[in-house]
Amino acid sequence: MQEKNNSIDVVPTHVALIMDGNGRWAEQRKRPRLFGHKAGVDSVRIIVEAARNIGVKHLTLYAFSTENWQRPGVEVKGLMSLLKTYLQVELKKMLKNGICLQCFGQMKRLPPDVQDVLNTVISDTRHCRDMRLNLALSYGARAELVAGVRDIARKCCAGDLQPDEIDDSLLSDHLYSQGQPDPDLLIRTGGEKRLSNFLLWQLSYAEIYFTETMWPDFHEQQFLEALKEFSIRQRRFGKTGAQLAAQ
Ligand code: FPP
Repeated sequence: MQEKNNSIDVVPTHVALIMDGNGRWAEQRKRPRLFGHKAGVDSVRIIVEAARNIGVKHLTLYAFSTENWQRPGVEVKGLMSLLKTYLQVELKKMLKNGICLQCFGQMKRLPPDVQDVLNTVISDTRHCRDMRLNLALSYGARAELVAGVRDIARKCCAGDLQPDEIDDSLLSDHLYSQGQPDPDLLIRTGGEKRLSNFLLWQLSYAEIYFTETMWPDFHEQQFLEALKEFSIRQRRFGKTGAQLAAQ
């Protein structure tokens, strides 16, 4: 679940990130919100590289929620354009750094040109093994769970599955994160302290780290601080401290 690293005692295998604060960061500078999102893309580049270099194996970024479709059209369009450019520009680096891209979310709702680029990058990087980068796009945890439960119900109705066979691991296998370990650490930037419909099933035992730092200011040093804090937390998974010490 987690590995030793020279500078950080315990490196989480899977880090999930709620990248919040782009809008406020821009407003503080009297600039339009998209200015904050642009700066946010630079943080994405920095954190993807830092995570991969330190030995994180799965990184899941909340880039666009199902609720974000309600934002002003100009902001949604701007975000989609930033995403497309990011993918086009980063493909080479992903291949060089062994980063395999996956999308969590309702890909079909994305503009067709963004879907095309996403599909290309997903397909071109599918053999990469150093780190899995999951972009949560048009993602909502409740919608993900409803879709998974519907799939399972269909299999039961068809007689391919018995209700008694449904357990944690079967439900996990019907989610976007199928085959990947649950996040060990969730980081949320921007000062808010909530989950915002992100990975509600998968985060059951994750350590949570909240920081006031706005996403555009969250760089390698801030990421390392979060990892250091994680490495000194005691994860008991429901057991007592004494039981863990005896293991
Ligand atoms: C939350 O900040 C951030 C988002 C809704 C979008 C995140 C997008 C990026 C970091 C850039 C594009 C992503 C990739 C992967 C290239 P907010 O706008 O809610 O900030 P606020 O809470 O200050 O208003």
